[in-house]
Amino acid sequence: MRDIKARVTSRTDHAPGLFSLHCSAPDLAAGVRAGQFAMIGVEGRSRPFLRRAFSVADVDRHAGTVEFLVKVVGVGTACLSALVPGEEVALLAPLGNAFTASDLARGDRVAIVAGGVGVAPFPLLLRELGSRGVVADLFFGGRSAPDLAYRAKISPLVTGAEKDATDDGTAGEPGRVTDLLARTLGGGGGYRRVYACGPTPMFRSLARVLDGKGIAAEFSTEAPMGCGFGVCLACVLPKPGGGFLVSCQEGPILAPSAVDWSRCR
Ligand SMILES: Cc1cc2nc3c(=O)[nH]c(=O)nc-3n(C[C@H](O)[C@H](O)[C@H](O)COP(=O)(O)OP(=O)(O)OC[C@H]3O[C@@H](n4cnc5c(N)ncnc54)[C@H](O)[C@@H]3O)c2cc1C
Ligand code: FES
Repeated sequence: MRDIKARVTSRTDHAPGLFSLHCSAPDLAAGVRAGQFAMIGVEGRSRPFLRRAFSVADVDRHAGTVEFLVKVVGVGTACLSALVPGEEVALLAPLGNAFTASDLARGDRVAIVAGGVGVAPFPLLLRELGSRGVVADLFFGGRSAPDLAYRAKISPLVTGAEKDATDDGTAGEPGRVTDLLARTLGGGGGYRRVYACGPTPMFRSLARVLDGKGIAAEFSTEAPMGCGFGVCLACVLPKPGGGFLVSCQEGPILAPSAVDWSRCR
């Protein structure tokens, strides 16, 4: 983990309130692993006081840049939205654990389940899976079509099938992305692993869909964080049978069985 001063090199808008920031950070681009995150602060700003957590979405190792996909939801993300190329951000990174992919071999098939901005950690994972010859199906869900606007970036990296779902039916099939996966599994689709990132209700139903199927799974959890490295305990998640885990240190990538989803907000 290092505290890196990084310059914004460019910004890409995907939909209103959904954009990518590309920042110059050669060491981070060279060493970060898929699933890890950064705590990002804006130089010279006192609000928000605390940095905010963002998955490293992608890297360009040649250019020495890292990409963050940001959805504007409050003061911190609005602050990032106001940045222009040339301005500086402070990145505490890399933080947390990474997705497991080293045990997968050419021809293995995996599923990626993304809910809205939960698609963020997957470009980098898809690059790693692609380099190993692993076939990855993407199940991408959102409330409405604009939530799937990142598809233009991620589609070229998908090596298997792409299936979309939206709550209002404006893109893909109407309904939940977890139902899409459930139907695929019911139809005999088998996977070596399921990777997922999205809101807590999505994790809750996905854990139910996968229960008893014997498919390994890794959920990229997003508990609100204060520090990102184990000090403030803002990010604790309830464990089955009682007690809590510290998701910034033990995660954010966790097995579904590590968390009692019924006790998560
Ligand atoms: C490990 C990790 C990786 C993340 N990766 C990304 C990413 O790649 N892209 C992205 O856009 N966001 C990501 N998030 C969520 C992001 O950190 C929050 O959206 C951000 O902190 C909100 O800050 P804010 O000041 O704009 O909003 P605030 O003013 O702090 O909050 C606005 C609203 O958002 C809610 N909120 C705050 N944090 C979260 C959260 N973690 N999950 C759900 N709701 C939240 C608050 O309850 C409130 O309702 C990630 C979170 C974690 C923990
Ligand atoms: S965010 Fe501070 S302990 Fe996890």
